[in-house]
Amino acid sequence: MKIALIGNGAIAKLVTQFCATRASTLTIVGALGLAADTQSVGAHPVVYKLADLLALKPDLVVECAGHSAVEAYAAPVLDAGIDLVIVSTGSLADKKLYDLVKAAADRSTAQVKLPAGALAGVDALASGKLAGLTKVTLKSAKPPKAWKGTPAEKTHNLDAITERTVIFSGTAREAALTFPKNANVAATAALAGVGFEQTMVHLVADPGVTQNVHRLEAEGTFGSMQLEIQNNPSPDNPKTSHMAALSLMRMIENEAAGILI
Ligand SMILES: NC(=O)c1ccc[n+]([C@@H]2O[C@H](COP(=O)([O-])OP(=O)(O)OC[C@H]3O[C@@H](n4cnc5c(N)ncnc54)[C@H](O)[C@@H]3O)[C@@H](O)[C@H]2O)c1
Repeated sequence: MKIALIGNGAIAKLVTQFCATRASTLTIVGALGLAADTQSVGAHPVVYKLADLLALKPDLVVECAGHSAVEAYAAPVLDAGIDLVIVSTGSLADKKLYDLVKAAADRSTAQVKLPAGALAGVDALASGKLAGLTKVTLKSAKPPKAWKGTPAEKTHNLDAITERTVIFSGTAREAALTFPKNANVAATAALAGVGFEQTMVHLVADPGVTQNVHRLEAEGTFGSMQLEIQNNPSPDNPKTSHMAALSLMRMIENEAAGILI
């Protein structure tokens, strides 16, 4: 299977390394990057125009770049009839962009595939939804300093937080749009479960944690669940959980596997 990446950063590097270990089935043919991406994270070329990426005839395009890349490239990739994996799921909290991507997928033979990313329990949430979910809540906790550079700086003195403090509560839509750099997990929970308006999100500054901790709680006809994941950062980007790249690897491996799980 020929895979093209959009992005040439931390996730792209891990995915490239993984594909090298599956060289008989998975080949990265190229990556689309920004002007700053002068050095490839693998043996494949970096290109700067979508047309040049599509000229490499990929079977699958994997976005691991950011929200702007989904905006720029999702619809054209689908219009070219190529399946697209989107890891920057937070981009889809923008209803206009979601509608654009959905319309492109509907008119194409190709599909959009959303990995679980840094969130655990997406399979159970999406399965539980089939029998009806009554309540879905996501609690995302990080050390106080990890919220620097976000709107939490305006509402809280992050340096003075000494105990677990909820810095934001609202719907997944509000969470994703207010905290765009932290939007992916909230959006994935919403997309897998009861949607952006019905999924409640609490963002927490917790001096007692050192990792990014996501706790997904759901109730419905299936029963109830409380699942928590404590994510280590990825080796090359402390803001990205290692699990995000791992979930992409699993999705890509499944594309070429005889038995999928
Ligand atoms: N679903 C999840 O749980 C989850 C978790 C972590 C990260 N992510 C997403 O993955 C993305 C990539 O993470 P990373 O750690 O590899 O980031 P990174 O900053 O290490 O790398 C991003 C790469 O994409 C390139 N890029 C950015 N915008 C682009 C554009 N418009 N067109 C082409 N290339 C572009 C950058 O130049 C860089 O090479 C993040 O931006 C985030 O949206 C999702």
